[in-house]
Amino acid sequence: MNILIAVASRHGSTREIADMIAQELRDSGHAVEVRNADEVRDVERYDAAVVGSAVYMGSWLAEARRFVEQNRTTLLSVPVWLFSSGPLGEDPQPPGDPAHLDELMQAAKARDHRVFVGKLNKSNLGFGERLAVKMVKAPEGDFRDHEAICGWAREIALTLPPSTPRGD
Ligand SMILES: Cc1cc2nc3c(=O)[nH]c(=O)nc-3n(C[C@H](O)[C@H](O)[C@H](O)COP(=O)(O)O)c2cc1C
Repeated sequence: MNILIAVASRHGSTREIADMIAQELRDSGHAVEVRNADEVRDVERYDAAVVGSAVYMGSWLAEARRFVEQNRTTLLSVPVWLFSSGPLGEDPQPPGDPAHLDELMQAAKARDHRVFVGKLNKSNLGFGERLAVKMVKAPEGDFRDHEAICGWAREIALTLPPSTPRGD
């Protein structure tokens, strides 16, 4: 299958999560493209879509929300999965959906929404962001769980029809 991973990332770590998912899906025989959510104009080319965003101040980034809203009709005709990257720390609290995605889930009839623990490198942040993370005492580090990410991608692959190798 031809799979789109549309992603919104401010500092790059969510984009890397998208790349990990892409690699796992490719290993399962699918053609996968990872693209910035605000650059995709041709969703109808794909047979399935995974949409992901970093969470900032309790929300998905605007371009990821817009992507789902603007492509809603096309997305309804293919299987869709959503993921968020946000909570930080070894034991991130509170559990659950940090980005309140119920409406987007409904809009795209998404099959699942998975939350992955993210990464914070304070040296990459602007003044306002530094202030915000200081106020909530956000822990610094790379907390991404590669096994959780790749495991989810394998779950997705299991639900998709196997790709026919080219030339058959
Ligand atoms: C200013 C700021 C605000 C954040 N707000 C949230 C939030 O509300 N909820 C959450 O789960 N994570 C929050 N995070 C953590 C980010 O989502 C996390 O660092 C993520 O991995 C960043 O992804 P990116 O590198 O793709 O931008 C925040 C981080 C920063 C710097």
